[in-house]
Amino acid sequence: MEKFDKKEIDLKVKENLPFKHHWHNQFHLEMPFGLINDPNGLTKLGDTYHIFFQWNPLGVVHKNKCWAHTTTKDFINYTTPELSLYPTDIHDKDGCYSGCGTIENNSIRVLYTCNSKDENNVRTPAQRFGTLQSDGLVKKEEIVVEKNPAGYTAHFRDPNLFEVHGVRHFVIGVQRENETGTALIYREDGNNWKNLGELKTDYKNFGFMWECPGLVNFGDEWILIFSPQGLKEEEYQYQNIYQAGYIAGKMSLDSMEMFHGKFYELDKGFDFYAPQVLHDGNRKILFGWMGMPDKDDEYPTGDEGWKFSLTMPRDLELKKGKIYSKPADEIKKLRKSSVDIKEKSSEIKKSLNKCSESDLNFKLNDSKKINLTLKYSDEQTEIIFDKMTQSVTIDRSKMKLGGKGQRKFKVYADEELNLKMFVDRTAIEIFFQDGEEVATFFVFPKEDIEPELIISSDSAVGVEGKIYELGRFNFE
Ligand code: FRU
Repeated sequence: MEKFDKKEIDLKVKENLPFKHHWHNQFHLEMPFGLINDPNGLTKLGDTYHIFFQWNPLGVVHKNKCWAHTTTKDFINYTTPELSLYPTDIHDKDGCYSGCGTIENNSIRVLYTCNSKDENNVRTPAQRFGTLQSDGLVKKEEIVVEKNPAGYTAHFRDPNLFEVHGVRHFVIGVQRENETGTALIYREDGNNWKNLGELKTDYKNFGFMWECPGLVNFGDEWILIFSPQGLKEEEYQYQNIYQAGYIAGKMSLDSMEMFHGKFYELDKGFDFYAPQVLHDGNRKILFGWMGMPDKDDEYPTGDEGWKFSLTMPRDLELKKGKIYSKPADEIKKLRKSSVDIKEKSSEIKKSLNKCSESDLNFKLNDSKKINLTLKYSDEQTEIIFDKMTQSVTIDRSKMKLGGKGQRKFKVYADEELNLKMFVDRTAIEIFFQDGEEVATFFVFPKEDIEPELIISSDSAVGVEGKIYELGRFNFE
């Protein structure tokens, strides 16, 4: 029997939707079995968005990397995800790693990293195009780069296409031989793809590998998104094992450099990595992987047969060198009933539905600390805003299962603080100050219960807003 039986795997996905287990999320993309990671091949053809993502359909470990594929017109109704690309030959036998999507002649094409290891475990990473066919499979086509260029190790992966003056290029993550990370640029030239070398930045020694780079333009400004590995933890940033963020500024491919500001993380939660942007005209829609490499035992869903999710789609805006992330408007269509809040108090309790969105605005008055507690019976997660340090702490130490600990990051709020908090069954995304900061993370409550939201503060705060019950994604 074939290792990857598309028919059987696709059928098994169908049979297991909609999800049954109380840890399965209802408005985050995830699979009923196997392990998913990076969003891949994000594209729009006509009025349809195509979303691929890394998937091991055979187990909950980082092996057997395939691509799954789903489509949607509205980020609410999806086609049932299918197996679309899987290891078949000498080039990608050890994994169809991450890559991007593009439109050519009215078809979806993908460009991905073929991962292959020899008997001595020596890796050869090749970059290959493919075309999505009507049977849901990606037909594998030309290899455009056969292996890592001289001066770089075999950590050479995750190509991502972009255009400058109508010419196609891709940016790709790589490790120098001195074990520092960077990004290379390739330019299409007839049938060849020419290595233009490193895109120079001020970050010359910034982690040991840059995964999943992407160049996104906003008018005449660019951001380089990448996921550097190996940054040192600081008081208010870089608190995960690996980071995901961007630098923003001007870019010249003549001098091959970026003139940019500081590296900002795109998300400060526990579970966000390897994001990719979907280009929809001027709309830049970001999806991240909800998960973290090399932290596998922090995710108890593995015992139930699946791991990880994708974030909700987020619209990106660049203002004064800083990215603001907003939940895509489409998600509003999930709203069902709502409750209005307008209170001034130092303790407010509200019961949430199984899936909810809390859209809250706080007038801080004299209070120095606001504490939002998500209470699941005798377990809880806290989100604490501290005015004196202008920071937020997310504290999962009172949860029984899954990853624990704290994440701490700066959030500036003088008189008012606003947040949009999306609480799915285990996936939580919180947008602070109109998307200036975002924190994405999982909690795994033991019981199948609806959380209670408790807002408490050291003196009365004014709270105004709405709490919505949210519905779930639909798979056709
Ligand atoms: C990031 C990553 C990519 C790689 C893929 C393999 O999470 O390590 O660099 O292509 O995952 O699944």
